[in-house]
Amino acid sequence: MPGLIAPSDYSREPPRHPCLKINAKEPFNAEPPRAALVASYVTPVDYFYKRNHGPIPIVEDIERYSVIITGLIDNSKDIFMKDIWSLPKHTVTATLQCAGNRRTAMSKTRKVRGVGWDVSALGNAVWGGAKLADVLELVGIPKLTKSTPSGGKHVEFVSIDKCKEENGGPYKASIPLIQATNPEADVLLAYEMNGEPLNRDHGYPLRVVVPGVIGARSVKWLDSINIIAEECQGFFMQKDYKMFPPTVDWDNINWSTRKPQMDFPVQSAICSLEDVNHIKPGKVSML
Ligand code: MTE
Repeated sequence: MPGLIAPSDYSREPPRHPCLKINAKEPFNAEPPRAALVASYVTPVDYFYKRNHGPIPIVEDIERYSVIITGLIDNSKDIFMKDIWSLPKHTVTATLQCAGNRRTAMSKTRKVRGVGWDVSALGNAVWGGAKLADVLELVGIPKLTKSTPSGGKHVEFVSIDKCKEENGGPYKASIPLIQATNPEADVLLAYEMNGEPLNRDHGYPLRVVVPGVIGARSVKWLDSINIIAEECQGFFMQKDYKMFPPTVDWDNINWSTRKPQMDFPVQSAICSLEDVNHIKPGKVSML
């Protein structure tokens, strides 16, 4: 893709704040100490959890960077940053939460697959960008559209990063077209986080933000948008981020029996104490 490249190794990763607790180094997955979450309503970018599945892409030339919108529409179109910047800018304060948040605690009861997270794989940010509903109008899809005339019912976001789960292919996910074209759903193509341009870890130059839905659908380093008939068939929609009962046999799993997780309640946790603090009966002691 012009202007944006995806390294195949981890030699060009961005700098990160030393306070982050690293749950996996390559790809980089880290969360802040609990206290950082309650220190301010809006989570500072440095302390915001980072959830990656491959090396972080690099913008080589922002003027050449574009997102192609294609699929079940009359005419495909390349959208450049200048097109995005010329649309009305919206700021949306939204919580992003990884569906794997608190997996470490869950695994103490019964083993859960995936990177272990404590309670801080979530954060609040003020996202700035164009509404996806406005961007889709640039390719002739009106607001509140359920289906395009050629049968497009879902909007797939494709990145450029190289993920081993996708056999070296990019991360991708989709949401229903009706949600994407509903201005009140506040789905953004965001270029700012807390008033600053996105940084590399969080999707520079452009990412999707889908409020109210698991973080996995907020695709970073956007490369293309496909209007498709069925939901995205990628690994992270079909073979991950699904909920199964405790009786599931992980070695013989029938993934198609569950829908991809989308809406997700925000979790609450005690953040003034870390797990190493114990409360003994009768008195409080800080170890
Ligand atoms: N987008 C791309 N391209 N690659 C990824 O690995 N991870 C997803 C989502 N978007 C991911 C992605 C997941 S699982 C989550 S929880 C959020 O990004 C995390 O966003 P953050 O790192 O900005 O906190």
